Amino acid sequence: MRIDVLTAFPEVFEPIMGSAMLGIARTKGALEFAAHDLRQWALSGVHRQIDDAPYGGGSGMVLRPEPVFEAVDAVTAMDPRPPYVILMTPQGERFAQGRAEQLATRDRLLILCGRYEGFDERIRSLADLELSIGDYVLTGGELAAMVVADAVTRLLPGVLGSETSVDEESFTMGLLEYPHYTRPAEYRDMVVPEVLLSGDHAKIARWRREQSLLRTALRRPDLLEAEDVALTDSERDLIEDALHHDPEDK
Ligand code: 6GU
Repeated sequence: MRIDVLTAFPEVFEPIMGSAMLGIARTKGALEFAAHDLRQWALSGVHRQIDDAPYGGGSGMVLRPEPVFEAVDAVTAMDPRPPYVILMTPQGERFAQGRAEQLATRDRLLILCGRYEGFDERIRSLADLELSIGDYVLTGGELAAMVVADAVTRLLPGVLGSETSVDEESFTMGLLEYPHYTRPAEYRDMVVPEVLLSGDHAKIARWRREQSLLRTALRRPDLLEAEDVALTDSERDLIEDALHHDPEDK
């Protein structure tokens, strides 16, 4: 996959996009990544201005349309594959794992970062999709763009060590993950659950499923409402008991 980003702050991407799993994905050739400085397409003038005062008055500056439209044309032409264009904005669809899985099937993304107090409304017409990463306000779309790039890249074939680790993780299954332990078996009086030391793989699998269910019920009950979470009757009973019996009155 190729990901291009258009931003007024291209330098903030390299430390993240060049490190750890994302860096490895690029070395392996699974990901081609480039962050482009919007100022390259700024209107002429010493200040290379890309924003301007809002029509109608009010405080703050607004990203002008021309640099963004011209940048999208120029960056699009850098590769024969037409990009799927994403605009990062708090007004977009809330980003979630299902959308990451869809985006991972595309061969090219072009991500536009909103900045300043806002962008000219006409910029919206460039986007195939508008995304937000949650209900809070960031100073710009850069961190959000990196969140999307990270979540998508790790799903690309060959990026993670084993393909099964993606299928078994939180949100893909619609449940939170079970607790993990490694050595030592006891640390500062905290012990690893017996069952994990038992070597009984069927029993361990059952325990993990149960832990996943209970954790999800307690921490993220909203996830259990989703249609694609298939639970057996006995799993539903287990959750009922855990949620509605106060541990005190047992
Ligand atoms: Cl995509 N941009 C900004 N500025 N704030 C956000 C966001 C995006 N997603 C959540 N908050």
